[in-house]
Amino acid sequence: MRIELTVNGVPRDADVRAGESLLFTLRERLGLPGSKNACEQGECGSCSVLLDGELVCSCLVLAAQTDGHEVVTVEGLARGGELHPVQEAFADAGAVQCGFCTPGFVVAAADLLARIPAPNDDEIREALSGNLCRCTGYQKILDAVRLAAER
Ligand code: FES
Ligand code: FES
Repeated sequence: MRIELTVNGVPRDADVRAGESLLFTLRERLGLPGSKNACEQGECGSCSVLLDGELVCSCLVLAAQTDGHEVVTVEGLARGGELHPVQEAFADAGAVQCGFCTPGFVVAAADLLARIPAPNDDEIREALSGNLCRCTGYQKILDAVRLAAER
């Protein structure tokens, strides 16, 4: 089926299969590989995107369901060549090692700070609880979110 949706502010369309995930459509049909596929089961958060402003795992959303809707991926967070403050803070705080989890964490953290500009540690942990990282031990990720909030 053919779907039309807005991705990162741009009208896009794609021919998708009935059971195809939004993650597959973004990566394989729309040329947006920022959202990562680590588990494809809703467990790791590496595929996190905003769907109509709500944080979702794009591996769990059928592409067909997004017809007429609005998606923001990690590629859509930077503005005019400037990194999003969360992206900048992840780099500055050393919160990126292999980087596979990073896009999901960045989208989830950006969503948190849009809702709660000065979150406490419990709120940060809660907001990032759906995202898994195998490298960093999470401390530097928390530091990065605190840094982004301060800025
Ligand atoms: S790839 Fe979607 S939650 Fe892991
Ligand atoms: S930086 Fe490697 S999984 Fe998080």
